[in-house]
Amino acid sequence: MRNIVVPLTLLGLMLVVAYTLPNKVDWDIYKYHINSTVTNRYAITVITSRVVNRRDQPTEIQFHVKIPKNAFISQFKMSIEGQMYDGVVKAKEEAQQQYSEAVSHGQSAGLVSSVGRTLEEFTTSVTVAAHQKVTFELTHEELLKRRLGQYELQIYARPMQPVTDFRIDVSICEQPHIVNAEVKGGINSPSLATIDLTESQKQLDVHFYPTVEQQTSCKVCGEDGLNGDLVIVYDVFRDDTLGDFTTSDGYFVHHFAPTGLARIPKNVIFLIDQSGSMHGRKIRQTRAALVHILADLATDDYFGLITFNHGIYPWKRELVQANEHNVAIARAFAQTIKDGGSTNINSAVLEGAHMLNQNPRDGSASILILLTDGDPTTGETNPEKIQNNVRQAINKKFPLYCLGFGHDVNFEFLEKMSLENDGVARRIYDDSDADLQLKGFYAEVATPLLTDVVMIYEGGANLTRTNFSQYYNGSEIVVAGQITDNNIETLSPLVVAISGNKSVEFSERHSSIVMTASMSESNIRRLWAYLTVKQLLEKELQLDGEEKERAKKEVLELSLKYRFVTPHTSMVVTKPPGEDTQVLHKPREGKIPPAARGGMFLSGARMVSGVSRDACKLYFNTCALFVSFEVLHPISISCSSNSLAPSLPAYDSTPAPVLYRFVRRTVNGSLPLCYHLNASISLKLLHNPHRGLSINGQLDSFPNGGFQRIVIHNQNQRIDIRQRRIHVHDGQNLTVVRWEPKTINIPRGKLIQSNKETIIIIGQSRFIVMLHEKNGRRLLWPVFSRVSGEHVEGLLAVNPVVYERTSAPSKTVTVHGNTFAVSETDMLDYSLTSAPRIKCWLTSAENALEGRLSDFLVTDL
Ligand SMILES: *[C@@H]1O[C@H](CO)[C@@H](O)[C@H](O)[C@H]1NC(C)=O
Ligand SMILES: *[C@@H]1O[C@H](CO)[C@@H](O)[C@H](O)[C@H]1NC(C)=O
Ligand SMILES: *[C@@H]1O[C@H](CO)[C@@H](O)[C@H](O)[C@H]1NC(C)=O
Ligand SMILES: *[C@@H]1O[C@H](CO)[C@@H](O)[C@H](O)[C@H]1NC(C)=O
Ligand SMILES: *[C@@H]1O[C@H](CO)[C@@H](O)[C@H](O)[C@H]1NC(C)=O
Ligand SMILES: *[C@@H]1O[C@H](CO)[C@@H](O)[C@H](O)[C@H]1NC(C)=O
Ligand SMILES: *[C@@H]1O[C@H](CO)[C@@H](O)[C@H](O)[C@H]1NC(C)=O
Ligand SMILES: *[C@@H]1O[C@H](CO)[C@@H](O)[C@H](O)[C@H]1NC(C)=O
Repeated sequence: MRNIVVPLTLLGLMLVVAYTLPNKVDWDIYKYHINSTVTNRYAITVITSRVVNRRDQPTEIQFHVKIPKNAFISQFKMSIEGQMYDGVVKAKEEAQQQYSEAVSHGQSAGLVSSVGRTLEEFTTSVTVAAHQKVTFELTHEELLKRRLGQYELQIYARPMQPVTDFRIDVSICEQPHIVNAEVKGGINSPSLATIDLTESQKQLDVHFYPTVEQQTSCKVCGEDGLNGDLVIVYDVFRDDTLGDFTTSDGYFVHHFAPTGLARIPKNVIFLIDQSGSMHGRKIRQTRAALVHILADLATDDYFGLITFNHGIYPWKRELVQANEHNVAIARAFAQTIKDGGSTNINSAVLEGAHMLNQNPRDGSASILILLTDGDPTTGETNPEKIQNNVRQAINKKFPLYCLGFGHDVNFEFLEKMSLENDGVARRIYDDSDADLQLKGFYAEVATPLLTDVVMIYEGGANLTRTNFSQYYNGSEIVVAGQITDNNIETLSPLVVAISGNKSVEFSERHSSIVMTASMSESNIRRLWAYLTVKQLLEKELQLDGEEKERAKKEVLELSLKYRFVTPHTSMVVTKPPGEDTQVLHKPREGKIPPAARGGMFLSGARMVSGVSRDACKLYFNTCALFVSFEVLHPISISCSSNSLAPSLPAYDSTPAPVLYRFVRRTVNGSLPLCYHLNASISLKLLHNPHRGLSINGQLDSFPNGGFQRIVIHNQNQRIDIRQRRIHVHDGQNLTVVRWEPKTINIPRGKLIQSNKETIIIIGQSRFIVMLHEKNGRRLLWPVFSRVSGEHVEGLLAVNPVVYERTSAPSKTVTVHGNTFAVSETDMLDYSLTSAPRIKCWLTSAENALEGRLSDFLVTDL
């Protein structure tokens, strides 16, 4: 059969403002100090960076750091030419107002902090006069959490260039002895860091002062200097008593983690989502983790295994003992779990709760673990109803842990459900180590030591949480509070709990209470405030109506008082006259797609559809990319050869590939380069691993072209643009909108639709999706407005090219030293309603993009 070339072409235009990397010769970081002080497991870290502008003209200087997710930023200062600019913490609404004003003045307001697995990002910049210096100083605070028997202090060290005066100083001071201290992490090289543990074992000092040479020659270093984490792990000595109890200044903190207790046998049920979305690596990793976890059960544990999709499939009708025989059969069963179907979370959790309720065992700890990667899609799908049902079924008898696998889960729903049932929700990142993450989570709850733990403080007030359903080996219970009348004599702590079949009590005479000398700097008050705010934020999630408002108000008051940047407060950074005021927000866990799907921050002026290249240059600094498609091999339609089958037309079983044609634009208006991409693939259009917005598109498999779907992820919102409808997922809600001329309000934005295009506005971002019709079928083409940000990836982030032609009429071009052949061809510009025809130079995608094609593909939308 002869290949038919159908000259269908289309063209779209997308615009990005190129992001500029800090130019190394423009400015020099000559001092970079990180100083972290930990007392009572409360870490206060100060990052100081001093930078000089080397140029003879004013230059924009950037300050970019990452901080632990659990930390609150509590201070940010800039000092320029002796003048101090200090960040102020304000209520979010108030700060937002300033933010909006700045945006409407066309300024780039917004320090968008973003999220990876354990870190958030802080970026700001300021323009500094010729040969002047600027000092940035950022402080963040966090209570270190004990996991698997250790505390971990993570310090991110990446100044982005070698620094003459580079120091990391960590000072850990604990009343109980420090044990098992170790320095780990990507930048550790034992000869570089000095570790000092005082003889009393109460103070640990770590100093890390690498020279410029060491900063550029270590394993994880390069021309840009250090790039890695310094991780310090340690534990403190503990016995089987009340634990350590420290007071100061009218406040106390109690760290409770007895070790020498006997483990309690557990009844554990694993609820495993096997719906279609678990397909591929996720289900393989789940099987691997499960096989491993089952092998780790103790023989006096009882367990159950329930897999579910739209149906519920218990491995056995009741809990069975984890003896060798049962575990072997269960592991074999786990190996065979297959993906497919939809997700019925409600029935699965109710079945698990029912099974645990039906099999009570004296002196044991019951645990329900749910692993899911998606929203409830069958059975009861209303999240509130599911939460009510689950709460009733569990009735505070055992904790429910929810593991949200990947980016499609409604994490807030899982978090709320866990918190309401004394558990926690954990995110499992869809990555090559997901099985390790699952095993790690299980290890944390593998050894229950106490149940029904109640912490009582006579003479204490304004206590943080005091009731805990279970205490596991390797973890820790922390309670902080105020002391009534500031009278230590009246304070009497007591812990009552159940250990197997017996009730146990922990109490102590006052003599063992450690008093921190009141002269010395005490952080217990801040620790109390930190813990109170964290727990109020959790409580707020579970509450409704007036109570929710009250919790919110309390968070706000404390955050303002202690200068914490929380989800209800923002830090407003006033800069020198003539520069934008910036506003720092703390992102919420679960609302932001994880790094793998990261996105990009869009902001700025409304883009006029049908913009020309000149107009594009006028509005924006540069114009990038993008164009067209062409069908080279249309799918042939033939009749089925099977005479028994109804004689319906069917697609040839091996359809020839359909190729689309794209363009890389040029800077100076010479003919763009163009290249082919296969149909049906999903393209990474714009990603920024550090910001909350990402855009992917799937090319149509039908030989008519354009995009079949374009999906915008913006925090917990997903706008799924299809050829006939737009699906707006917002948290748990789904709104389906048809393509027809009208304006629709969506949460935090709107859709302005006409017959030919839809303008999507979310917050400060706007973009346009064009709708064209060809041969009775629709095709989509995206047109983006201004984009700002950094670390941008994807097809749209490829900058416009400047190339050289060897000499006309020679058909070769040279891009950055790489010379390749091109042929002249043409295509249609689908970013304009009229879709005009343009000319371009055709070459391979690798040549045109100067990179591997695989870097521009995504596996799902
Ligand atoms: C680190 O900060 C603490 C508290 O502000 C201070 O006492 C200490 O001297 C600092 N350490 C260094 C090495 O700068
Ligand atoms: C708890 O953990 C500690 C340290 O890992 C270990 O020595 C101890 O045996 C564990 N206790 C139980 C009951 O497993
Ligand atoms: C904590 O547990 C005690 C005893 O079971 C109970 O009286 C108290 O109401 C509980 N407090 C909270 C806040 O749940
Ligand atoms: C508890 O907090 C309230 C409100 O902040 C305060 O008025 C009260 O004095 C505190 N109680 C104690 C014992 O400090
Ligand atoms: C608790 O008591 C029950 C019944 O009296 C007994 O079967 C079980 O072994 C006991 N459990 C522990 C951990 O002592
Ligand atoms: C664009 O720049 C290239 C290389 O500098 C040059 O050869 C070409 O003529 C320019 N094209 C136009 C339209 O200015
Ligand atoms: C299209 O897909 C086919 C089969 O997967 C592959 O051989 C071909 O190289 C691809 N073409 C392009 C331009 O990606
Ligand atoms: C979902 O929609 C309902 C009804 O329109 C609304 O009350 C609720 O706040 C929405 N939930 C979210 C998470 O947007």
